[in-house]
Amino acid sequence: MNFKFKKYWRKTGLSPKWGNKLIEIIYEKKPHHFLEIGVFCGVTSRNICEFLNLIHNGNFTYTGIDLFGNESDDNNEKKPVYIKHQKFSNPLKHLYYNLIINENLNSLESVKKFLINFDDQVTLYKGNSNKVLKNLNIEKIDFAFIDGGHSYETTLNDIEIVHQNMKGKKGTIVCDDYQDASYITDVKKAIDYYVKKENLSLRIIDGKFAVIEF
Ligand SMILES: C[S@@+](CC[C@H](N)C(=O)[O-])C[C@H]1O[C@@H](n2cnc3c(N)ncnc32)[C@H](O)[C@@H]1O
Repeated sequence: MNFKFKKYWRKTGLSPKWGNKLIEIIYEKKPHHFLEIGVFCGVTSRNICEFLNLIHNGNFTYTGIDLFGNESDDNNEKKPVYIKHQKFSNPLKHLYYNLIINENLNSLESVKKFLINFDDQVTLYKGNSNKVLKNLNIEKIDFAFIDGGHSYETTLNDIEIVHQNMKGKKGTIVCDDYQDASYITDVKKAIDYYVKKENLSLRIIDGKFAVIEF
């Protein structure tokens, strides 16, 4: 497989090491209908679209959900400071994005523009997954990457709705941040609870990705 996860000079939730691991799982499963909860600045989304385009020759869809700047009404969620103030460790990015073009990379408009080559395949929703997800038709989704709100309630909501829609078909759900960060404990609790309740198979990759496959 000759594909390398790129950062595209934006901000990314996944490092290239983890981006490449996600791409490996996608290569293993070869899904046609991808859902990402927690799009952030669209870097993982863009890599996924480039990769699915390569292996399926345009025959795929990508659906993304994010608050895109809306406040979460989940009291257990703290908005990361880098999203609130668009902080960059690279001063050139600060100069370019904040002072010259004044673009919020975690906005619907910015991500839409960034994914413009896949306009026919991409659908983006702005809102809280706790509300948006239950009103969407996601029956065709065969692969979901869950990386939005990291509270127990939101993680459980996202896994449950996605899995209920996938039931009876082959599918994969990958959740980020299973137990790699000591300050994020709710994700693991929610996954362990749901997997046990539904008797699902769970594979943990290096303590970070939880892969639920059925
Ligand atoms: C860790 S970042 C996602 C990183 C992204 N998957 C990547 O690989 O670059 C989490 C994102 O989830 C979004 N988010 C947080 N809570 C959410 C919720 N309840 N519904 C939808 N999006 C949410 C935030 O706005 C943020 O952009």
